[in-house]
Amino acid sequence: MAVVTGFDLKGAVSDNRVASIWKLATGYRNVYAWATFAMGLAAVFKALTYLLLRYFVDNVLIGGQLTQTVFIIALGFVGLALLEGSFTFFSRSSAARVAENLARNLRDYVYDHLMRLTYTYHDKSQTGELIQRSTSDVDAVRRFFSDQAIMAGRIVLLFVVNFIALVYLYWPLALASVVVVPIVVVLSVYFFGRVSDAYEHFQDQEAVLSTTLQENLSGIRVVKAFARHDYETDKFEGDNWEQFERGKRLLSLHSVFWPISDILCGIQLVGGFFLGALLAINGTITVGTYLAYAGMVIWLIWPMRNLGRLIVDMSVGLVSLQRVLDLIRVDKEDLETGSHAPAEGVAGGIRVENLTFWYEEGHPVLQDISFEVKPGEVVALLGSTGSGKSSLVNLLPRFYDYQEGHIYLDGVEITEYPRHYLRKQIGIVEQEPFLFSRTIRENIAFGVGRHVTDEEVHAAARAAALHDVIESFPEGYNTLVGERGVTLSGGQKQRVAVARTLLKDPRILILDDATSSVDTETESAIREALGRLMEQRTTFIIAHRIQSVMIADLILVMDKGRIVQRGTHDELMQVDGIYRRIYSMQARIETDLEKELQGV
Ligand code: CTP
Ligand code: MG
Repeated sequence: MAVVTGFDLKGAVSDNRVASIWKLATGYRNVYAWATFAMGLAAVFKALTYLLLRYFVDNVLIGGQLTQTVFIIALGFVGLALLEGSFTFFSRSSAARVAENLARNLRDYVYDHLMRLTYTYHDKSQTGELIQRSTSDVDAVRRFFSDQAIMAGRIVLLFVVNFIALVYLYWPLALASVVVVPIVVVLSVYFFGRVSDAYEHFQDQEAVLSTTLQENLSGIRVVKAFARHDYETDKFEGDNWEQFERGKRLLSLHSVFWPISDILCGIQLVGGFFLGALLAINGTITVGTYLAYAGMVIWLIWPMRNLGRLIVDMSVGLVSLQRVLDLIRVDKEDLETGSHAPAEGVAGGIRVENLTFWYEEGHPVLQDISFEVKPGEVVALLGSTGSGKSSLVNLLPRFYDYQEGHIYLDGVEITEYPRHYLRKQIGIVEQEPFLFSRTIRENIAFGVGRHVTDEEVHAAARAAALHDVIESFPEGYNTLVGERGVTLSGGQKQRVAVARTLLKDPRILILDDATSSVDTETESAIREALGRLMEQRTTFIIAHRIQSVMIADLILVMDKGRIVQRGTHDELMQVDGIYRRIYSMQARIETDLEKELQGV
């Protein structure tokens, strides 16, 4: 299982973002502490360099003696520069390494989380939006940890160390050098709020764009078939324009903020230089002190200038963090919990009692459904489109939870089984099967968690009347499906999906319209092969052709979420009802077709 160990982010989800960050950094806090400490040392060495400069100017240069001391001092400068450089390097590189690891963990976690969200959540959310959150937002969080978290430490430490050193030099000058600090802080905090909002709008719109792009690419055939390029392009241009506007708003905030903060810091710097010069001229401070001051004050202003940048960048990181946390906050499907999981597997008897189910409250799609299937029996569901057939079978693997009534498997309510266990016992061929861009072999072997032999794969493909087709491809079973390989026909895809489910060898088999895209001849070949396979397992067949459902032990005819007729083929043919009407309609079409063919 791909759960990242020691990295339960669910615990990091908190309404307080600072608390979330603290929890996210679990396991990395020591490295961060070290990185910050190294940063602090680097700042101290920088300040010492200027103090050494003062000593050099006042005691050596002005004294006018070129003694050995000069060389020692020169060595001192080199040494301090080396120390400062190394500590800065160590600090940066350890922060970057931690941030990369953290981002990797976060990405893994988000991916794993996405895979475990409920059907209902995925039904309702947009793929583009989810992609956005697991890529661009995670990356902004990475930058937060690699750049901004360490920058915050650097700013505070540089400011504090240099301020203390300045106080040591000449305290009134030190105080005069920080008069703009309150203004810069207030300004930064104000812009922080504005930029957060603007960036959030910007990211939201980017998600809209990703979704539009992703949808149109997946649905490119529909767009082309309906000749809707122009409309779709216009729509994209509109969305893109909105993105541009929002980006512009974000930039214009920056372009207002930076000049203001630059001007303030510039005035502070020049004012300090000027004041220092006056003090040096009237002899209050030495020339050495003035030079040291001039060097240090730059490193006092630097944090002030960067405080604004930091706060603005942080707001970006925090918005993205919030977006990622919102995703993590969504409850996962609980796959493991459940008291009943017999090691020998299930027999496959199913009893449904007074079952009612809805996706949206107040609009039940299944109402008062009751029926019973013994292990190994075949049930067929027949009914008009939208009558609830797929919904009913999707309840068995607990893709959704029903609201009223009961479903028992071997006499135990299915909510007692862990979902994971249940899904291993049940094989479902979905109505709209999805294949991965992998080889045909990999697609067929997808559902089996162990190594499978070629024989097993071929046997499954044979049962799905697919083996000969695959063999006719030049690459055989290694043919790539989808984007990088062949495009399979609708019927071929369906048969790969059937083979995939058969290879899983489930106790309960669900075929949701599994042969709707294949011709009658192929269908009967599959039906025959399935007939042998169905013998030992409980099978649900959803189909529109009477021939596919005739063989069932129990046929349920559904209409508007209710069972309106039930029985075997023979029983249903005895009574006047939907079943007999469908039968005679399909029979008539077939005889007409035969007559026509004979006429040719
Ligand atoms: N439905 C829904 N949300 C879903 C799936 C289905 O609201 N995630 C609704 C559909 O709009 C439909 C009803 O549930 O009104 C029954 O859908 P379904 O069970 O899919 O009908 P089927 O009988 O399977 O129809 P078909 O023969 O077309 O597959
Ligand atoms: Mg359906």
